Amino acid sequence: MKRLVAGNWKMHETTRAAQRLASSIVASVRELDIGPNVQVAIAPPFTALAAVGAALAGSPVLLGAQNMHWEDDGAFTGEISAPMLIDLGVRCVILGHSERRRYFGESDAYVNAKLRAALAHGLLAIVAVGETNEEHDAGIAGERVVAQTRAAFDGIARERLPEVAIAYEPIWAIGSGRNCDPDEAERVMSTIRSSMPGLEGSPILYGGSIKPENFGAYLALPNCNGGLIGGASLDAGAFAELVRLARDTAPG
Ligand code: PGA
Repeated sequence: MKRLVAGNWKMHETTRAAQRLASSIVASVRELDIGPNVQVAIAPPFTALAAVGAALAGSPVLLGAQNMHWEDDGAFTGEISAPMLIDLGVRCVILGHSERRRYFGESDAYVNAKLRAALAHGLLAIVAVGETNEEHDAGIAGERVVAQTRAAFDGIARERLPEVAIAYEPIWAIGSGRNCDPDEAERVMSTIRSSMPGLEGSPILYGGSIKPENFGAYLALPNCNGGLIGGASLDAGAFAELVRLARDTAPG
């Protein structure tokens, strides 16, 4: 399966800084000559999508969004729809990130509605799942992520599953510098893989304090097909190094 390396810039960078960062990432990715088996995406804030899209034009780096609404249009103040994103050249979207679930009341039902919309519009969705520190300590990480995964895919045809990536992001590992032990991550990712028929074809990413020093250990895991990267995606040099690691371990 292809490798996928996706950068989540979160609420960072104004338009000019975003365009500069995207241009340096494009330059490094061009140099790396990633080939057909590595996909790279960056998801800037909505306000920087147009500027970053211009910087990515003609490059293999996909433009991503960090969220979207499930309706195409309507009275939803402050929201952004799939057709609006596609209009700006967006090709992929992160759904159900734990920060959205935790701070903005994003429920499993919302994630499911958004995933249906993403599929209807041909966007590559990256659905994020993960357990809290308490759930981790209680030994129920597997149970939590399986529940989130099944809820996200509820009612979606099995044949569509390979078009969706799942990011396993233990919440306690996000932005904490405390990355999950790779063997433990593999156990959870293999639980996700076997939680529904059809997921054998879906890329599964690890996310949570990925850095050039630890990414190789995840890429070596049988059920890890790439990474969802926060902090390190804001540093063009570090992000390029992560892409290089994905290229060097890509199949074929
Ligand atoms: P981090 O964030 O790499 O900064 O831990 C990952 C994420 O939230 O997607």
